[in-house]
Amino acid sequence: MPATPRPVLLDCDPGTDDAVALWLALAAPGIDLQLVTVAGGNVGLERTLPNARAVLGLAGAGVPVVAGADRPLVGRFRSETRVHGMDGLGGVTLPEGPPATPGLAADAIRARLRAAAAESVTLVGLGPATNLALALAAEPDLAGRVAEIVLMTGAVGEGNWSSAAEFNAAMDPEALAILLACGRPVTLATLDLTAQALVTPARVAALRAVSGGGRCLAAAVEILAAIPPSRRFEHRGVPLHDPCAVMWLVAPELFTHRAVTASVVLDGADRGRTRIDRWGRDGAPANARLLEGLDAEGFFAALGMMLKELK
Ligand code: RIB
Ligand code: CA
Repeated sequence: MPATPRPVLLDCDPGTDDAVALWLALAAPGIDLQLVTVAGGNVGLERTLPNARAVLGLAGAGVPVVAGADRPLVGRFRSETRVHGMDGLGGVTLPEGPPATPGLAADAIRARLRAAAAESVTLVGLGPATNLALALAAEPDLAGRVAEIVLMTGAVGEGNWSSAAEFNAAMDPEALAILLACGRPVTLATLDLTAQALVTPARVAALRAVSGGGRCLAAAVEILAAIPPSRRFEHRGVPLHDPCAVMWLVAPELFTHRAVTASVVLDGADRGRTRIDRWGRDGAPANARLLEGLDAEGFFAALGMMLKELK
């Protein structure tokens, strides 16, 4: 008897990798995607919102999409169009999706949590964590309805926004700090993990060769092919960040992990840097699960198998 799909509320900033992560979340039998909320991030909210609607619309998904923060809790909005293009989807045009659901992301998240049983809802954060943080800061007791928070954020080593900070953490470190302090299990998919999910031309070709897929798989392949290779990897490919966070919920056997103590720097040149203590050296109690190892071949095989089930 298959396990009951876990209720998931997913916050994102589509974003090329967010798009593939959304399709993965829709396709995964173990995920009951109940709400998608959107923030400004890779590109502005005026693009990330229609992108989320279009991605879900292409899959024919009736999941409500609610707009949220167009800027961080502190400081000004900044984007990453160099990676995602001005439109946020690498220049890939999708048909317009269904309208967004009126309201604000943080309110929609709180409403879902209020209606949920204790420790029953999984929150997934794939962009700056502003919406998730606003929801839990406004009504802290709702953290008790959360089973787990899974974030693509941070880095043990070097960043990708600054030498010290990964983009999502750098864009709203205060929001990340709120989530790390909320008292619920937090699972981190950092840059060090996502570097193992390198999208290379060979892996794009393998996804393109998956038979029986529909328009979502085709669009995902087109989007992946459009992402510029990263100089961090000698232009051999580009890390597929956000689907790693979702795949943890789909196929945890593909990962190794350990309990760590994680915090985020809020001041100075290292603002947005995640300090991750893997060995308990700093004396603080563990407050997060760090995803460390990834079976990359298994990841991409599972991704293809899942995406081909979509329209
Ligand atoms: O640093 C990578 C992360 O920042 C990914 O979530 C990407 O989509 C951007 O949001
Ligand atoms: Ca993202």
